[in-house]
This record gives sequence, structure tokens and C-alpha cells, in this order.
Amino acid sequence: MAHTLVVANWKMNPADAASAAQIAQGIVRRAKGRARIVICPPFIYMSVVAKAIGRSKHVFLGAQDAFAGKGAAHTGEVDVGMVKHAGAKYVIVGHSERRAAGETDETVREKLFAVLKAGVTAILCIGEKERDLHGGYFSDIKRELEHAVRGLPKKFLPKLVVAYEPVWAIGASSAMQSADVHETAIFIRRVANDIFGKTAAEKIRILYGGSVTKQNARDIVEQGNVDGLLVGRESLKANEFAELVNELGK
Ligand code: PGA
Repeated sequence: MAHTLVVANWKMNPADAASAAQIAQGIVRRAKGRARIVICPPFIYMSVVAKAIGRSKHVFLGAQDAFAGKGAAHTGEVDVGMVKHAGAKYVIVGHSERRAAGETDETVREKLFAVLKAGVTAILCIGEKERDLHGGYFSDIKRELEHAVRGLPKKFLPKLVVAYEPVWAIGASSAMQSADVHETAIFIRRVANDIFGKTAAEKIRILYGGSVTKQNARDIVEQGNVDGLLVGRESLKANEFAELVNELGK
């Protein structure tokens, strides 16, 4: 794998454009380029963040979502063509907070295809709501992945990133143990191998997300054996986030 990928998911933050510009500038200035960073701000701040990123070689712009429908009559929606014009190279698809707000496996699939067909890298989020004692969570993860990529041509796989985010570890007080991240990443890889074949599935990058901090980032990447991280709360503090990224690949 060429580079470790760290995705900053700002969710519905910060409160204004000036703060968005400030955080993005801080990240660009302090992150040393050991990993590739993708900042995903709310749509309304994409242009100020694009400006703060400028021509950085290791920080890129992403969007938190993109609408998959066609035509112009969709009040309130933003499609992948629009975020691409704004400079986005990545789009998060199917985050658990969007699934909780009503996105189905089928909506997620439509969005995934729309993003990939536009030539943009998709960060597909999957993950169980809870870990039951009988391993039922494996079937939830499998269902979400299989449904999202059903019928997807292999040529799109280099632009597919799967972010494994156990829902119970998002916004929590601690992340999943790196040994469990490792086990789940192997499972996701195996499901992908069964669908696409080993050689093609190797091109998919797998990230972990859920309460990542600068203290646990390196352990999760190295012991969890993932290709990067998806970071929520900690990505809004420029200093902390840059330190988190700088911990990787030391
Ligand atoms: P968190 O959020 O890092 O604040 O747990 C992660 C996410 O929702 O992607």
C-alpha cells in the first residue's frame, strides 16, 4: 500500500467558515506528510477549506456525502459532480449517522456507484451496531459490504476505501482494541476476496474509525493492520490531529 490514509470527518462542525479555514490551515501547516490526509468539512465550508489546502501534496479535500439522484429538482441535495467541482477527491458514503437518519443499504449502494463513476474515491463506511456474544456482528458487516458493492466492476476497486467503523465505538470513550480491529479487517478482506477474487480485492484499502486519538492511532494502524483511520472529534483540533497523523509511519 502506497500511503497511510487519515480521513478527518468534521461532521456538523465547526460553527463558522473562519474557524473551518483556521483548523484546515493548522492541519496543513503542522502535519508532516507521513500520511495522506483527507479533510471532509460540511458542504458549506468546502471552498474555504479547499483554499486553505491550496496545492498541498499530502492534504486533500473530501465531502461527507453526495446525492445519487439525477436531474435538477432535488431541494437541499448536493451531488458528486458539485463536490468534484469544489475540489473533492474523496466522498464518504454510508456513514452510520446517515444510515441512522434513514439511508438504506440500497441508498448507500447507489451513492457508492455515483461517486465511483464520477472518478472520485469513495470511503464506504460499514460496521456493526453492537458486538453480540455469538458473532452475529460478522453477518452485519458482511451484509453491508456485499450489498454496497453488488455488481461493482473490478476496475473501480483502486478507488474504493472501506472504513470499518463499529457504531458502538463512534463518539465513545475508547476505541476498539487493535487485536479486534485486526481480526475484523481480515474478515472484511476475506469477504472482498470472495466477491472480487484475491488480486482485485487487494486494491481495496481498509480503514478503522471510532474514537481514534493520538494515543491509540499508531497501535491501531500497526497492530490492527489497517491502511489508515477515519477520525471524528479529534480532527477538529488542528494541533492534536496533526500530532496524531505525525505519530504514523515514524
Ligand atoms: P469519532 O467519530 O472519532 O468522534 O469517534 C468517528 C466517526 O464518526 O467517523
